[in-house]
Amino acid sequence: MTSDPDWTVGSTLPPPVVASLQRFQVGESGDGAGLITLADAAGDPNYARAVRFFVAEEQNHARLLAELLRAGGHPTVSSHWSDRIFVRCRRALGLRCEMLVLSTAELVALRYYGALAESSDALLREVSTRILEDEVHHVRFQRDRLSDGFARTPSFLRTVAGFLWQAFAVAVVVVVAVDHGPALRAVGTTRGVFIVECCRLVADFRIGVFGCGVDSALRRLRRSAEVEPTSPASHR
Ligand SMILES: [Fe+2]
Ligand SMILES: [Fe+2]
Repeated sequence: MTSDPDWTVGSTLPPPVVASLQRFQVGESGDGAGLITLADAAGDPNYARAVRFFVAEEQNHARLLAELLRAGGHPTVSSHWSDRIFVRCRRALGLRCEMLVLSTAELVALRYYGALAESSDALLREVSTRILEDEVHHVRFQRDRLSDGFARTPSFLRTVAGFLWQAFAVAVVVVVAVDHGPALRAVGTTRGVFIVECCRLVADFRIGVFGCGVDSALRRLRRSAEVEPTSPASHR
């Protein structure tokens, strides 16, 4: 395992970044018990094992953020309204719903930690870069599992589910941008840029999971146009 950053160098975090990190730290610190229970019930031991690794990595993110705050002389907080709403949404339906809500958080986290990784504070940059590396893998993990999970859903329902999820995810992105706007500004980005970049990630994720929409239809058309003329079987 990679050793921890050198916390003794300290950190000088602007107040909006401190408040923002405290909220993200709460979000990263769940015990994952609900998700693990649902994953166990899915009957796939490899997946259940992967989910445990995933939860452990999220808990490590919470620990890194807590250490970072401590290095700057700031406390953690025990709860925040955004986290309470997020947990309620996740538990509203079964495993797929939980994963879709979680994926929204992962996509937001990609841009959030990406923005913090550009900060002028060395310790904040290091912690954000480490977390970002994990989040990239988490997004792929969720995308692949969800894509398999929706593979047998009829195309029309998949399309509807995809756009409903996208609408939910865009709403979450806007709420996060409003709530964390001062922190984003403090590290050199804006709410507008954050929203646009998150929405791009959300749209790509929807296509990756639900395989629907104009883009994927065009991709399918392009693929068939490429395959047909060169397929020897088609000329026999
Ligand atoms: Fe995380
Ligand atoms: Fe994650």
